[in-house]
Amino acid sequence: MPGMGDYSREESIFGFSGPEVRIVAAAILLVAISVVLFSLPEKSSGWIGSREIIRKFYFLPILLSAMWFGVRGAASSTAFATLVCGVLAGNDWPAEVSSQVGRVGEVAVFWLVGGLSASIFEQQKRFIGKIEVANDNTLIALASALDVREHNTGVHSQRVADYMLRLAREAGVREKDTLDDFWRGALLHDVGKIGIPDKVLLKPGPLSEEEWAVMRNHPEVGAGMLRKIEFLRGPSKIVLSHHERYDGTGYPGKLKGAQIPLGARFFAVIDVYDALTTDRAYHTARSHTDALTKIREKSDTHFDPAVVAAFAKIPFEDLREIAKKNQTPLLFASPPIPSLYQVASALSPQP
Ligand SMILES: [Fe+2]
Repeated sequence: MPGMGDYSREESIFGFSGPEVRIVAAAILLVAISVVLFSLPEKSSGWIGSREIIRKFYFLPILLSAMWFGVRGAASSTAFATLVCGVLAGNDWPAEVSSQVGRVGEVAVFWLVGGLSASIFEQQKRFIGKIEVANDNTLIALASALDVREHNTGVHSQRVADYMLRLAREAGVREKDTLDDFWRGALLHDVGKIGIPDKVLLKPGPLSEEEWAVMRNHPEVGAGMLRKIEFLRGPSKIVLSHHERYDGTGYPGKLKGAQIPLGARFFAVIDVYDALTTDRAYHTARSHTDALTKIREKSDTHFDPAVVAAFAKIPFEDLREIAKKNQTPLLFASPPIPSLYQVASALSPQP
């Protein structure tokens, strides 16, 4: 999907946001249950009931694995539970046929529950994924329409949304909902400009005081539009605060430092970087190095220094890839300015 494919967001379930953490969580549960089972006295009829109950606890890691990792996860956890139950059954195989059937049936139910739940969870994920893609495609269409009106290229919003995701990942953000909010907030940051008349928005010269007053309304107008839609409430905070400055001189709330939502502090850096590195009505595109220097100069005044530091760590190639994907060239450094001698030599006729 445009704008998202290369920077896909990880899912977070019950606060576990990385696959490694979830693998460890499932493994701990499986091992803990097995340790308890092996620690109970064997061949003791008094513990038969307890062992049966504890074996049922294997459903928990099996279901969690199905939810987190799908069929492969469920199969791995179920295979582990089957192995442990097999070893325990080998040590204490019941004499009665009904008990034997019960032990085999128990393992069969593990596989049945694991397989069914994995299938249901995968179906549900696919369904939710399709809805999210449809929603985000609608947002991209809206943002592109706004870009075409103001920037002509139609990709400014997608480009800053991609930069935003890359910066968030550099800063260690992994939680899917937060990344979703950041991406959508960046994509829709100027949605409030929909209410600004063309004579103000597209005015080639400097704006009058009244026109600036109209222009400065766009964060509140945009946030007001998005706030009414539940899945855009998070992004609306970025939209509202995307012109705030770290030192409190921004608008509309004159928020300062950590009062500014984190996503808006991220976006402030991204928006200026994109403005500096693309051709605009009032300047030609600067190089990455020049833009970074300009941004560093405003660290602690316009921008959160921690965010600037995270942005500076992103390899240039990653930024260039995002720019290229969004139809924009990005130079690492400006070509050196020729010396007067070089200019004179170029202009002089060759002997
Ligand atoms: Fe804006």
